[in-house]
Amino acid sequence: MNVEIRSIAVIGAGAMGHGIAQVFSMKGYRVNIVDVSDEILKKALQNIEWSLSKFVEKKRIGREDAEAALARIKATTSYEEAVRDVDLVIEAAPENLELKKKIFSTVDRLSKPHTILASNTSTLSITEMGRATSRPDKVIGMHWFNPPQIMQLIEVVKGEDTSDETLSKIVELSRFLGKTPIVCKKDVRGFIVNRILGAVFNEAYWTYYRGEASKEGIDSSVKYAGGFPMGWFELSDYVGLDIVYEVGRVLYEAYGERFKPCLEVIEPLVNQKKLGQKTGLGFYDWMKGRPRIPFELSDEYDVERSWMVAVNEAAWLVYENVAEPHDIDTGMKLGAGWPQGPCEYADRKGLDIILNNLIKLYEKHRMEMYNPCPLLKEYVDRKWIGRIVGRGFYNY
Ligand SMILES: NC(=O)c1ccc[n+]([C@@H]2O[C@H](COP(=O)([O-])OP(=O)(O)OC[C@H]3O[C@@H](n4cnc5c(N)ncnc54)[C@H](O)[C@@H]3O)[C@@H](O)[C@H]2O)c1
Repeated sequence: MNVEIRSIAVIGAGAMGHGIAQVFSMKGYRVNIVDVSDEILKKALQNIEWSLSKFVEKKRIGREDAEAALARIKATTSYEEAVRDVDLVIEAAPENLELKKKIFSTVDRLSKPHTILASNTSTLSITEMGRATSRPDKVIGMHWFNPPQIMQLIEVVKGEDTSDETLSKIVELSRFLGKTPIVCKKDVRGFIVNRILGAVFNEAYWTYYRGEASKEGIDSSVKYAGGFPMGWFELSDYVGLDIVYEVGRVLYEAYGERFKPCLEVIEPLVNQKKLGQKTGLGFYDWMKGRPRIPFELSDEYDVERSWMVAVNEAAWLVYENVAEPHDIDTGMKLGAGWPQGPCEYADRKGLDIILNNLIKLYEKHRMEMYNPCPLLKEYVDRKWIGRIVGRGFYNY
């Protein structure tokens, strides 16, 4: 067991919190889990019990292991009881900065000085949460993917004041849990995975809005020609259009025109509460299960265009020293099930080809998402055009 971090508290026992608690308990940790009512906590424990039973059914763990894991979880509505004697607190409360700052300030007051405080936020500022405490160096982002029990990836996010020591402890801990951590070196909105997904979603929405392809056509190409697990409209519905809309708003606020949202496409659906799978309707009808994406429409859209904007956004992440190519690629493969990462893709395809295609798209549509990142121009000027010459995003 990780020697520095032996006991955990999880704040918020919802979709993510209960799963995170379960991952730790299955690894032998004692976990305290907090929520606002006993009823919610009861439901969370039932969810954990159900999930553990699935692990037993699949013979991934024994029945006794499942019972022991469940027994290691203590549910309480008292923050004090939960956090006073633990080495790490992970906050998984609703995505609201004011609420999170309040929670961080309370936990700071009630926990021991050495305790690390992590947030599972999808995009809010870790730095601001840290500054609501007296220990900003020990506050960090630990962004799990849904469902935490199954998904391999953890994005570890360094706030402006997070110490290297805190960062390395959380990276080490993630590995110990059997997960694959990637490091987001700066506290930027969307971190790594959601930023690149935001770019491809926008490209798809605008293409559809301009009438260049139907949503089924785009999804067909993305899925069958591109080998992605879902088309972008299907995935948007799956994630929830309210969440996609909100993340889109945050990205636009942070990065401006490059993330200009296609409100004409998404806003009417959000206003009508057609939020995707969870409400039965969204871009698609989910009433009778997963939508069928017709194979024969894949010629309507060229999936290369999704790759172009994904590579461009990956280039911005490298250019701004937010993430290393390897972490970006790992993030997209493990966090979003991509068949390859954008940096690997670019190095195979040729950065010169990608740069030319982006320039052509930019000249045609005059949208900032196609405006090539200076890093791509710099690499092509240096003749670092990918695998073929031994140097691109990666050094071969
Ligand atoms: N759902 C996802 O796919 C996903 C993926 C990655 C990250 N996240 C992030 O994880 C966090 C939680 O998301 P979720 O989907 O689990 O939400 P959720 O609504 O399912 O769960 C949140 C829980 O927090 C509880 N809560 C509310 N106020 C609280 C308080 N003051 N103290 C303690 N508990 C409180 C709620 O009762 C609820 O049980 C959010 O920041 C979200 O952005 C979500």
